[in-house]
Amino acid sequence: MSKTVLLIVVLSLRSPAVEALDNGLALKPTMGWLHWERFMCNTDCDTDPDNCISERLYMQMADVMVKEGWKEAGYKYVCIDDCWPSLQRDAQGRLQADPKRFPGGIKKLADYVHSKGLKLGIYADVGEKTCAGYPGSQGYYETDAQTFADWDVDLLKFDGCNLKWTLIGEGYIKMSKALNKTGRSILYSCEWPLYEWPFQKPNYTAIRETCNHWRNFNDVFDSWSSVKSILEWTASHQDIVVPSAGPGGWNDPDMLVIGNFGLSHDQQESQMALWAIMAAPLLMSNDLRDICPRSKELLQNRRIIDISQDPLGKQGYRTAKGNSFEVWERPLSKNRLAVAVLNHQEIGGPRRFAISDVPGWKFCDPHCNVTLILPQYKEMGVQTKESKLILYVNPSGTALLMVTPISKDLRRLHWKYTSVKQNQVITL
Ligand code: GLA
Repeated sequence: MSKTVLLIVVLSLRSPAVEALDNGLALKPTMGWLHWERFMCNTDCDTDPDNCISERLYMQMADVMVKEGWKEAGYKYVCIDDCWPSLQRDAQGRLQADPKRFPGGIKKLADYVHSKGLKLGIYADVGEKTCAGYPGSQGYYETDAQTFADWDVDLLKFDGCNLKWTLIGEGYIKMSKALNKTGRSILYSCEWPLYEWPFQKPNYTAIRETCNHWRNFNDVFDSWSSVKSILEWTASHQDIVVPSAGPGGWNDPDMLVIGNFGLSHDQQESQMALWAIMAAPLLMSNDLRDICPRSKELLQNRRIIDISQDPLGKQGYRTAKGNSFEVWERPLSKNRLAVAVLNHQEIGGPRRFAISDVPGWKFCDPHCNVTLILPQYKEMGVQTKESKLILYVNPSGTALLMVTPISKDLRRLHWKYTSVKQNQVITL
């Protein structure tokens, strides 16, 4: 094989099918904190000063993120969602923060967040109004992009409420160009496909060229039924969405709700494991000032974060389903494989699952090294293709594994794994 042919083969194996937005950002899934699911549109600072949408909330969150190991674990973005602005634009037509709740203004807040070594995210909407009724950016894309750049903002979550669906794509592209024109690196988080799916199949090639991540499905709620519905949507659309993910652009299944009220600990482990397998942005929406130690340990678990941030940048997908189990697999760098086995049965105790039932298990040939990451860390040692290893998975919990090949013939292994196709979901 000539060198050029070899290079083309190598490049086509490594790069995702479509070109990413070329702003050098989100080469790995974004990690941080976003206010919406936990704090919503609470603007009542008189009676609820600790939980209202105000500069204090983000400053306190930034303080905790540095002090409590979140920043060190990789969580860098502190993100504002809806309900931050004043209901009126200023005399020059610019958005302005609510003066009562953000007396210092957004630029000062960005300076504060930057002084902590963190980054600041803000929220706007492609339509006439945001989803909560604050001023939208329609007709102001360039003005708003420039305002965010002048404030030294690092990320924009751009929502899709209150615009005719036929104009959505165009609006998102215009804002992407406007951000680019400012010359500041601003990570661009979109909801384009979510607002287009009810009418037509979105163009994921265009979306990946425009955005750094994109929401496909409903808002996450603090409940297991919500997390399950997001997983089911993703698996049932995996042939469409998985190929579009890769360094620079990711599918966004919405926030991590770990550390709140609605998920049991096993369900929190399932969300964390599956969000890592899906190469999803890890944007927590919880109260970091008051979080239980087990949830904190889970969110900061470096073995799971390593899966999320794996440099190969391929999104994992569901490979098998049946008998109330689901198996998801994600190919990782160094020919490793992450495997999640989710027990859907919500009655009874832990259920047995034979590792040899994992479709990608044939990849463990002649042998491989297995590390159990969830529900607890354990080196399972060297296993073979005929391994009789049994996993015990709690109701609505997940066993998460890392499988590392021990072989000299890595190319053969790669071929073996990629022969498990997204659209061949095996019945267990
Ligand atoms: C939409 C988005 C949410 C959140 C709210 C804010 O529902 O999908 O993530 O930003 O708007 O109003």
